[in-house]
Amino acid sequence: MRLHELVLRHGDLPRHEVERLLTAATGRSRSDLLVGVDTTDTEMSTFEAFVQRRLAHEPLQYIEGSVPFGLVEIDVDARVLVPRPETEYLLELVSERAKDPKMIVDLCTGSGNLALALKAVFPDADVYATDLSPDAVAVARGNALKNDLSVSVLEGNLFDPLPESLRGKVDLLVANPPYLAESELADLPADVLNEPKMALVSGPGGDELVREIAERLGTWVRPGGIVGVEVSEFHAAAVVEFFSGIDGKVVKDLSGRERFVLGMSPVE
Ligand SMILES: C[S@@+](CC[C@H](N)C(=O)[O-])C[C@H]1O[C@@H](n2cnc3c(N)ncnc32)[C@H](O)[C@@H]1O
Repeated sequence: MRLHELVLRHGDLPRHEVERLLTAATGRSRSDLLVGVDTTDTEMSTFEAFVQRRLAHEPLQYIEGSVPFGLVEIDVDARVLVPRPETEYLLELVSERAKDPKMIVDLCTGSGNLALALKAVFPDADVYATDLSPDAVAVARGNALKNDLSVSVLEGNLFDPLPESLRGKVDLLVANPPYLAESELADLPADVLNEPKMALVSGPGGDELVREIAERLGTWVRPGGIVGVEVSEFHAAAVVEFFSGIDGKVVKDLSGRERFVLGMSPVE
């Protein structure tokens, strides 16, 4: 079956999605598919099953099974949020600001994407990651093994599971916490609604977890340590106030949306 015939047959999906689903179903390279290699019946029935899952709004990346993130490849499924390109930009922002960090903490780690990508950039650092969801912790630990990277993934609320010995010693703190209000769920696209609600919604106001991170980070981050938190573009102007203790500034993403708060713990 030629690729263009499949694209025509599945006109309700964008062409690039048909290509990616066919690549996932057959394990063939895109260039092989473009020149029209023969596919087996089993591969085609896997492809058709993938198309049906996608038409039911399952995120493309869950069907593909993994996403590249920074220098690592991250397995994803319905237990975790799909890592976003914006978060990859946060990785870039903090990587260029942190000078040879030796102690890194990633709160709300989900699939472990930020923690593992930071460990790949700073292999000498001790990296700790926390998440309240036991499912996410399992996925992040699996991703650490997959990428052969040593990161301590701990289950619990924000800073709670961190060893006391880290207090005041953290050189780099990152977080991409849930930051939507309950009421914002209704406006989300169907694909996003198939991701864990716990990864999306913070509480009635949307700013609860960002506020708690801002209030508690002071005793964990060392003087001069770097903090980078992903926030909602709709809350950025308000939540940056929570980070006055680290002189937090709103930073825009590449499309000009206010998406991050970056700051540095004051040097006494
Ligand atoms: C927006 S997702 C981010 C996942 C990942 N860091 C990323 O960038 O794709 C938020 C994560 O926070 C976790 N979470 C929710 N409430 C939490 C809490 N109170 N403490 C720690 N993690 C929490 C969710 O389970 C979810 O994995």
